[in-house]
Amino acid sequence: MPETSETIEPLIFVIFGASGDLAKRKLIPAIYDLYKRKYLPKKFAVLGVSRSKLDDNSFREQVLFENEFLELDSDSDVLAGEFRDRLFYQPIDTNSVEDYALVKERLEELDETFQTSGNVMFYLSTPPVLYDKIPKFLAHYGLNRHDGSYRRLVIEKPFGTDLASAKALNKSLKQYFDEEDIYRIDHYLGKETVQNLLVTRFANGVFEPLWNRNYIHHVEITNAEPIGVGSRGGYYDTSGALRDMLQNHLMQVVAHVAMEPPISPDAVAIRNEKTKLFQSLRPIAESDVSKYSIRGQYTASMMRGEPVKGYREELGVPDDSKTETYAALKFFIDNWRWSGVPFYARTGKRLPTKVTEVCITFNKPPQTLFRRQEEVLHSEHNQLIIRIQPDEGVLLSFGMKVPGDGFKVKNVGMDFHYSDLADNDVPEAYERLLLDCMRGDATLYAHGDSVEYTWEFVEPILNAWQHDSSIPIYGYPAGTWGPEIADDLIESEHEWRSPCRRLTDDTSYCEL
Ligand code: BG6
Repeated sequence: MPETSETIEPLIFVIFGASGDLAKRKLIPAIYDLYKRKYLPKKFAVLGVSRSKLDDNSFREQVLFENEFLELDSDSDVLAGEFRDRLFYQPIDTNSVEDYALVKERLEELDETFQTSGNVMFYLSTPPVLYDKIPKFLAHYGLNRHDGSYRRLVIEKPFGTDLASAKALNKSLKQYFDEEDIYRIDHYLGKETVQNLLVTRFANGVFEPLWNRNYIHHVEITNAEPIGVGSRGGYYDTSGALRDMLQNHLMQVVAHVAMEPPISPDAVAIRNEKTKLFQSLRPIAESDVSKYSIRGQYTASMMRGEPVKGYREELGVPDDSKTETYAALKFFIDNWRWSGVPFYARTGKRLPTKVTEVCITFNKPPQTLFRRQEEVLHSEHNQLIIRIQPDEGVLLSFGMKVPGDGFKVKNVGMDFHYSDLADNDVPEAYERLLLDCMRGDATLYAHGDSVEYTWEFVEPILNAWQHDSSIPIYGYPAGTWGPEIADDLIESEHEWRSPCRRLTDDTSYCEL
């Protein structure tokens, strides 16, 4: 992160939902780390707002001193003490407009004490039902706009649950905040390697000339998590993998892989290219959904020698739930560059390992020169694998001659790991995103239009999965790579790249 505190204007950072999990796990640790690394201005304060009946001190205890991240921080003593004095808390009933007068009062006091020039960043980390209420109630007290200073609104996902609700939310927010002051968080955009996709493509002469239908056979995007839904069963069951991961995070990754070069690396230029890309997604008709998608749900099994519950046994999940914990899609981008190139995206919980990666498979050479009848040691399709997490890096897989007589060819890899860089301090996604918002840079935030386009794209799938009972939901044992039938989505001799072996021998796939 090249910026220094000199370039960040004074501000108050207001967290709605401050007693919740995200504030404790991600937001406060991220702000503290920015503070520690001297990215924040001297004139700076945090105001936590939520229903819980806390005061400044008990809030400080809860989010700072009872928080795991601080225990792990060896030089926390002095710094945490200083940081503590910048944390404040205001309990309110977020549903009651009158209570926002208390927020106004508190902001005025803090502005006076910390000389923050009226700049405020409001962060909504609340249940989504409050997303349109809070801005409206802030506006009631004139807190949404302020002459000569900024008022920015940061919104967590989910941004809507379908196209209609996303549109309604955009419309409602824009009554109170200008689009340029609305920051829709997609934490995948804060990941260093997602941003690096643009650099790999547009800062090198070698990749981009090949980055099109003439040389690329197909593109795969995989997101796998070994964890189940844990204590989030209640939320997850109303969402499912398509809404939770694919419509937002993975579609943003698709945009970075597939968009045209922007005219400059700024927010407007990048957003324009993404919008064009999303507009080029070929719609999947509801009647074709079974041809282009597979959904699955994990069933009880053993992972790493431990018994693991099935999704339907998880807390808060109905025992006849049809919610998918795995989703795989095949789709096309109908534009000049990608015409005819299949894209595949999959995401799932309780898969064998944690990995997010993009795999570009190139066409094979026009002739197969080096083949022995009995031994074909390699795939002739070169692959470029961009590992988004963990073990961030880039791997190019290609064929080399095996030393010795004849022409035996073997696949080898040129493998770059971020961890090999001397200065390998990969910033946490939330840190990067919060800092960008403080600088007024929305490049890594989702634009209202792109959110609507991606909902529009997934909506027929959501509808078909909900209403067409002939579309199966496949069970897959926890610890496997999802329903085996998902391999059939991929054409011809290809299959999903397998970043690691299966963790269970139980392959009893079934239709639920
Ligand atoms: C969240 C989803 O947005 O992203 C979670 O709601 C998921 O279900 C998480 O586990 C994954 O994020 P990451 O950064 O760990 O890949």
